[in-house]
Amino acid sequence: MSKMIGILTSGGDSPGLNAAIRGVGKALLGRYGMKVIGFRDGFRGMMENRTQLLDSAALSGILTLGGTILGTSRDKPYAMPVAGKLMDMTDVIVENYRRSHLDALVCLGGGGTQKNAYHLMKQGLNVITLPKTIDNDVVMTDVSFGYDTALGIATEAVDRLHSTAHSHHRILVLELMGNKAGWLALGAGIAGGADVILIPEIPYDVKQVAAAIMRRSHSGQGFSIVAVAEGAFSREDAAKRAEGGNDKGKDKGGKKKEQKQQAQERVADSKPGNSLHLAQQLEELTGLESRLTILGYLQRGGTPSAGDRLLATRLGTACADLINKGEFGVMVAARGDGFKLVPLKDVVGKRKTVPLDHDWIKSARSVHTCFGD
Ligand code: F6P
Repeated sequence: MSKMIGILTSGGDSPGLNAAIRGVGKALLGRYGMKVIGFRDGFRGMMENRTQLLDSAALSGILTLGGTILGTSRDKPYAMPVAGKLMDMTDVIVENYRRSHLDALVCLGGGGTQKNAYHLMKQGLNVITLPKTIDNDVVMTDVSFGYDTALGIATEAVDRLHSTAHSHHRILVLELMGNKAGWLALGAGIAGGADVILIPEIPYDVKQVAAAIMRRSHSGQGFSIVAVAEGAFSREDAAKRAEGGNDKGKDKGGKKKEQKQQAQERVADSKPGNSLHLAQQLEELTGLESRLTILGYLQRGGTPSAGDRLLATRLGTACADLINKGEFGVMVAARGDGFKLVPLKDVVGKRKTVPLDHDWIKSARSVHTCFGD
């Protein structure tokens, strides 16, 4: 009797997801003669038992496709929005795992997905995961697929903004994705030669940023490029959060209030107001015209880079090999040219943020990049 394996994609979409589905699926089908089904729209589709057969026809031609052929959602098994309320649907998901006669479940996603997979592992399901996110903030993996593609898109944006900034002697502020970790702004800022890089890990002093821009202006460089992560914030905001930290973190209401607060925080963190206000402040402080570009979802769109296709394929096929060996409860992490098995319990609840002494930061400072500190 062939083994039956389920695959789902969860969290924000990302280039490379389809390459990963293809890597896992083709190896399971071709090398091990297993059967593969996909669950639609992440854990919600598993709760609603919405599946699609992933046979060789379904897996053909998807290596280069952006997004995910399975669809995705941010829904969690233990806090699933049902009829306007957050319900724990774990038991239904476990039941559907059994009804589909699954021997294992592959979850492709970021930090939240790893946590959801761990939750299902504790219910006795055979779960194995791959790290996916353009933010590159999944711990204990060299890199997550999606990051390399987004890095290329963001770097090209920095390159292109140089033309207009130089021509108009302007400050061009480019907001990049990265709510809680600044890897995308840091990497693209360095690769694109941004003059200022602002990341959530280093609360910035807008006066320091303005002073760096003025130094450039006085030395004849009448333009500057500021790469800012959507989650970057000023020292003033840091102080306000510190004051209000206890209240903000405490949830006095029910799950509904928590969900509303989290949604507000996410929207608040990523609302253009943060970077728009920064652009306005810099114009006031420097007297230079300032313009804002928000790259947004372009960073998650389109075909994956060659690097992400390679990474997603090799982690995907390694995942299939591990399923055949019966290795579960782990994330297949990128490690050098190969992979490393990381227990899910070591991944859950953590986020890979940029260390303040990271070599990339040292390197950027060596080419006189300002971090607002
Ligand atoms: O987690 C990846 C990410 O793209 C973040 O960089 C971004 O802040 C967030 O997803 C946007 O979430 P959503 O797609 O739900 O709006």
